[in-house]
Amino acid sequence: MNPARWPLPASAEATANIAMVKYWGKRDAALNLPAADSVAVCLDSFPTRVDVTPCAAAEDEVWWSGRPVPPPRIGRFLRVLAILREQSGCRSAVRADVRSQIPDAVGLAGSSAAMAAFALAASTAMGVELSPRELSITARLGSGSASRSVPGGFVRWHRGHQEDGSDSYAEEFASAAHWPDLRLLAVIVSREPKAVSSTVGMIRTARTAPLYPMFVEQCGRLAADAQAAIASRDFDWLARTAELSAQTMHGVCLTARPPILYVRPLTVELVEHVTELSRTLPLFFTLDAGPNPFLVTLAPHDETVAAEVARAFPDVEILRCGVGGGVRIVA
Ligand code: PMV
Repeated sequence: MNPARWPLPASAEATANIAMVKYWGKRDAALNLPAADSVAVCLDSFPTRVDVTPCAAAEDEVWWSGRPVPPPRIGRFLRVLAILREQSGCRSAVRADVRSQIPDAVGLAGSSAAMAAFALAASTAMGVELSPRELSITARLGSGSASRSVPGGFVRWHRGHQEDGSDSYAEEFASAAHWPDLRLLAVIVSREPKAVSSTVGMIRTARTAPLYPMFVEQCGRLAADAQAAIASRDFDWLARTAELSAQTMHGVCLTARPPILYVRPLTVELVEHVTELSRTLPLFFTLDAGPNPFLVTLAPHDETVAAEVARAFPDVEILRCGVGGGVRIVA
């Protein structure tokens, strides 16, 4: 390899993934190694695009929606670039431009898409060829859940056991075509950035929440259940498993010191309404580290679910998605 040739411009796109069994807690914070396995669905809509270009400045730059990403947030991107530089020998600075169609920092998993697209665009720009497993590991170093936006479809992120994280990566266990009727609706009740980032929330929960060991212990079992429920397209089983995972994640956050409460009054009303609707419709909710629930249903009921939610909550925004994704190079 001739390092002087690199970097070249490269662009990639990825979509967010929504965990059915949550990742909450790290066995190694520096390497973003999770305390347990998690299972997620990659979305087919609202891609995030990252353009990486050579940069005349002395230092790397990362821009998000036209604004420079400040410290400490830029640190995650720089960590990925440092690893790639070790592999490529490329020393010149790069500029990355992130354009996300997902509202930022509202718990809609926007960072998972951005970091997956960034890992592919930056590795391509620097001439580093990575296998899908290596790419998932590289994206993980920037943001844990980004490891799951690399493969697409239905994915499982392995906790792994190696200290260097070489066996902690995400892989597809069923393609998007396996369950084409599955539909996800993001319900945006608030666009306020969350007060406690997921990293801070995870560390505080692990250190102070008395129920945390129980939560971690349960994750492995729930991940196996979610994978089996998806493999057999058993909606009710997936619903029970995913709601329990989200409920226990938020429950354990509430037992942290000081308590972490990601939901807002409107979130609670919505969850109650969805629970009521789920008596007559295939429907369940999940919640990441924010107030905005994701609803999961089956086509053709997504129209009805969206209409019912819009009727009861006229001020919320609803984004509708199917299953898809998988990071890719774009022109
Ligand atoms: O990878 P992070 O730091 O964005 O953490 C994601 C945590 C949750 O979204 C709450 C759960 C998950 O598994 O995606």
